[in-house]
Amino acid sequence: MMIEKSGTIRLREIPVPESATPEQAELAQGMVRVNHLYRSALKVAVTQMEILDEEFASLYDHSPIHHIEYRIKTLDSIVDKLKRNGFEVTIDNIYAHINDVAGIRVICNYLDDIYYLRSLLTRTESFKVIREVDYIAHPKESGYRSLHLIIDVPIVISEGTLHLPVEIQLRTIAMDMWASLEHELRYKSDRDFDEEETARLRLCSDAISEIDREMQNIYQGKDAEYEAPVEAKP
Ligand code: GTP
Ligand code: MG
Repeated sequence: MMIEKSGTIRLREIPVPESATPEQAELAQGMVRVNHLYRSALKVAVTQMEILDEEFASLYDHSPIHHIEYRIKTLDSIVDKLKRNGFEVTIDNIYAHINDVAGIRVICNYLDDIYYLRSLLTRTESFKVIREVDYIAHPKESGYRSLHLIIDVPIVISEGTLHLPVEIQLRTIAMDMWASLEHELRYKSDRDFDEEETARLRLCSDAISEIDREMQNIYQGKDAEYEAPVEAKP
């Protein structure tokens, strides 16, 4: 199942009134191209993930991917990130400094599926891992878990082959449940968590991690390992 989250960079957000300066007009032009190129990279990467999933399913009668979500970062969010990181808002800076214009979230069924897909991705010569952060082996302070990869994706356009970064977040259904709700709580209701709430969220994350391991064990026919956690770990 494929879910396209927030369609595309909304080009009507880009101000090009008749009074636009040449710089503004150039930025707008550049954004049209950014949108097109990153959408292409996104398509290539999503299709590759699907190919791996389908192949695995036909060989082993198990589909590692539960579903895939993907999105192009909104223009507002690109501009925010550039400013936050102290860069001028230019097209060149988008290409140079924003690695997650194209983003894919791969929700896997079991824990091992994540590392299986990761190993397959890097086995192909065409996709290189530019950056990898394993928030499963080393969860964030918040309790956030996922495997983050920035992949260099080649796309063929009329001028030749171009390489663009695509961010891939791999996580289990359980990790996705935690991340979605934590995000909802944090951003939608616009509140800061106090110490106790932070600890409770981490406790939920620990419990989910145990459940992931136990579901994996049941799937593989291994003995029980699960013990309900009693306190949050930093
Ligand atoms: P960004 O500017 O957010 O891209 O920071 P970064 O490049 O250092 O990336 P990082 O690895 O911190 O995480 C990037 C993405 O991971 C975020 O946009 C979220 O989708 C997700 N993420 C990271 N930390 C958390 C967290 O504590 N909670 C939730 N719900 N999501 C998180
Ligand atoms: Mg990011």
